[in-house]
Amino acid sequence: MTTINYINQTVLITGASSGIGRVFAQTLAARGAHLLLLARSGAALDSLAAELSRRHGIRAHALVADLSLPGAARDAHAQACALGMPPDVLVNNAGFATHGRFENIDLARQASEVTVNCTALMELTHCALPHMLAQGRGAIINVASTAALQPDPYMAVYGASKAFVLAFSEALWAENRRRGVRVLALCPGATDTAFFDVVAAPEAAVGRRMAPQAVVDAALRALDQGRSSHVAGRQNRLLAWLPRLLPRETVLGIVENMLRPGQA
Ligand SMILES: NC(=O)c1ccc[n+]([C@@H]2O[C@H](COP(=O)([O-])OP(=O)(O)OC[C@H]3O[C@@H](n4cnc5c(N)ncnc54)[C@H](OP(=O)(O)O)[C@@H]3O)[C@@H](O)[C@H]2O)c1
Repeated sequence: MTTINYINQTVLITGASSGIGRVFAQTLAARGAHLLLLARSGAALDSLAAELSRRHGIRAHALVADLSLPGAARDAHAQACALGMPPDVLVNNAGFATHGRFENIDLARQASEVTVNCTALMELTHCALPHMLAQGRGAIINVASTAALQPDPYMAVYGASKAFVLAFSEALWAENRRRGVRVLALCPGATDTAFFDVVAAPEAAVGRRMAPQAVVDAALRALDQGRSSHVAGRQNRLLAWLPRLLPRETVLGIVENMLRPGQA
């Protein structure tokens, strides 16, 4: 596998206003990519776009969109094309989690979680892939989670949404591996971002938090190697073996204990 050259490639990053997505933007701008930065926080995107284009001499545009709304992903892709910037690389990173007993969490919020984490990711991939295939090259990074590796009691919808991202991405890796388009499912463990402020549940933070830069560097290395999925961090990779080695009910019991509300 060859190392990807990002100079003059257009990269669309969702969830670019903070955390892992923001670090993807900074890292890829430094490697010479032009950027389309998508999130709801327009002011944060505008200042990041201005800073990165000034510092690295690249084109950077904000795409302000709420991916929980029907059609938002397709509209954002259409805007990218109208700017003359169909994505050569797509980083589907926007996402959030909820925590608590399933029946106690607002249904509309959990439905939005599925829309942002799964439906919008699937729609953007569907919009962006034909251009990559036509060029015979391209790459898609879909941000899943170590939460995808087993079911997650008290984060049932989040875990299931990330299992969708992992399975979907691995299937597309296999469909496209001989057509020049790389697909990677990235599985970060706990990472030091605003994610845990959004979840608002300390129980959801399992393990030591990695720096987002380390997660992004690991993802770009795994993409260069042509991997289908990658668990970021050695400790997380060791823990990722447990669901494969232990009986399913044992794993469910362990995770139920770790994530039970009031355990932190
Ligand atoms: N941090 C962790 O421990 C961890 C672990 C495993 C996986 N992950 C995954 O990593 C990804 C990035 O999360 P993070 O840790 O960087 O958290 P973060 O700092 O909270 O970033 C989340 C990003 O998603 C965007 N977003 C959320 N809802 C959106 C919506 N409706 N429409 C458009 N954009 C939306 C947010 O932007 P706006 O609020 O401006 O819209 C923000 O840029 C997520 O998919 C998350 O599930 C995180």
